[in-house]
Amino acid sequence: MNPLATKTVEQSIRDTEEPDHQLKKSLGPLDLTVFGVGVIIGTGIFVLTGKAAGVQAGPAVAFSFIFAAIACGLAALCYAEFASTVPVAGSAYTFSYASLGEIFAWIIGWDLILELALGASTVAVGWSTYFADVMKSAGITIPKSLYGENHNLVAAAIVLLLTAVICLGIKVSSQINLVVVTIKVAIVLLVIIAGAFYIKTANWSPFIPPSGSKAAGGASLTPSLLQDMGFSPGAFGITGIFTAAALVFFAFIGFDIVATAAEETRNPQRDLPIGIFGSLAICTTLYVAVSLVITGMVKYTEIKINAPLAEAFRSVGKPGIATIISIGALAGLTTVMMILMLGQSRVFFAMSRDRLLPSVFSKVSLRFGTPYRTSIVTGVVVAVIAALVPLGELAELVNIGTLFAFVVVAIGVVLLRRSRPELPRAFRCPAVPFVPILSVLASFYLMLNLPALTWERFVIWMAIGLVIYVFYGARKSRLATAAETGYNTAEYGGEAAEIAGRQSRSGATPAG
Ligand code: ALA
Repeated sequence: MNPLATKTVEQSIRDTEEPDHQLKKSLGPLDLTVFGVGVIIGTGIFVLTGKAAGVQAGPAVAFSFIFAAIACGLAALCYAEFASTVPVAGSAYTFSYASLGEIFAWIIGWDLILELALGASTVAVGWSTYFADVMKSAGITIPKSLYGENHNLVAAAIVLLLTAVICLGIKVSSQINLVVVTIKVAIVLLVIIAGAFYIKTANWSPFIPPSGSKAAGGASLTPSLLQDMGFSPGAFGITGIFTAAALVFFAFIGFDIVATAAEETRNPQRDLPIGIFGSLAICTTLYVAVSLVITGMVKYTEIKINAPLAEAFRSVGKPGIATIISIGALAGLTTVMMILMLGQSRVFFAMSRDRLLPSVFSKVSLRFGTPYRTSIVTGVVVAVIAALVPLGELAELVNIGTLFAFVVVAIGVVLLRRSRPELPRAFRCPAVPFVPILSVLASFYLMLNLPALTWERFVIWMAIGLVIYVFYGARKSRLATAAETGYNTAEYGGEAAEIAGRQSRSGATPAG
């Protein structure tokens, strides 16, 4: 057992070629961009904008979106280099295995459960609320026995339905995604264009409400760790922009999941960076526009925390548009959930293939080319959490988990440049190590802007993970048992020829 053993990049790629564990390569750059937008636009813009503007930043929430986007852009540069160097399922998990060592890979894999599975559960609960709302406008009331806190069968049902779609094959999923994403983007554009006519510039004044200003009703403000430590005076003001940024960061989660589809991408070296940056750029533009329109339509103190977009239109006497927005939100949240679960099943798949989790899970369906076992386990877990757990503040737990993964990936880029400078990198992060360092600082700063309670939960979760690693993964992993099983770690070590050959065949330019 060597917790710092790394798995070579060549070995990671070779593993993907084992027939029993092979995923279908069917995705192109458009699929990936649509994938990204599909998972990025969701609860963040449709729900969290309300709390961020109403109790944390006021109209300056537009700046919060920009700051969160910058942090994500820096992380995206690191992800794109890593994903194009190690085009293997498992995202940050795989990257860490290749650069930092097994224990870090485990930590990240465990941490990603917060982002992906817990994120999907959070969105499922949000989905059920919108579903109940839309049904109500159609005159149908969902019985209390099926839908309520601690027994949300509506949320569980949608999760299980989506699990079936995922098992049928990633190509089917991305086709459904394309339709839903089109509807979702159309709805967001409707908000921007229709809402622009109702903007009253007086609502933007003051654009950055001074610290301690009156907040909108309906949401309690949990102080951030920085505020608890006395470094930040509380809601609103300049520091409020960053507290809100740490919350609306949730709205950007997903671009990194594009990287988890590396192994199912036809030409990952070219297509992944296009998918990651394309989806990030589209969403940032839409978010800034939406937040300006909403805070221009409604004074931030009057903003409705739970359904800020729809309510803004109700408040200007346009209930029809409000209903259309609710239906769009429903469609939007569906794709978010689906892709979060898809990402989770791929990370789980990669961990099982490496035997850090039991290997029975990494069998791929011969008929559909999908890792159906990990998909089913993921679906059931997400459904159970969504059904039983009220997920009020959990977006913040999802954020801290994701930001932590960004920190590790940025460090990994620098380390892999040093340990394996000769590897072909179709996409090279500019100005290494400065960009990765900036990325670490930006992500860590956002983490500090999350509540102390979120930090506590995060630390507990990671401690549980470490115990599992010590008692299971560290003993059973493919690397740990290499000698007995004949899994030869030295065979590919230090040899870049194979990966270089593969990448030049697929049109990538080796690093200079
Ligand atoms: N970015 C996704 C959302 O906002 C997770 O729902």
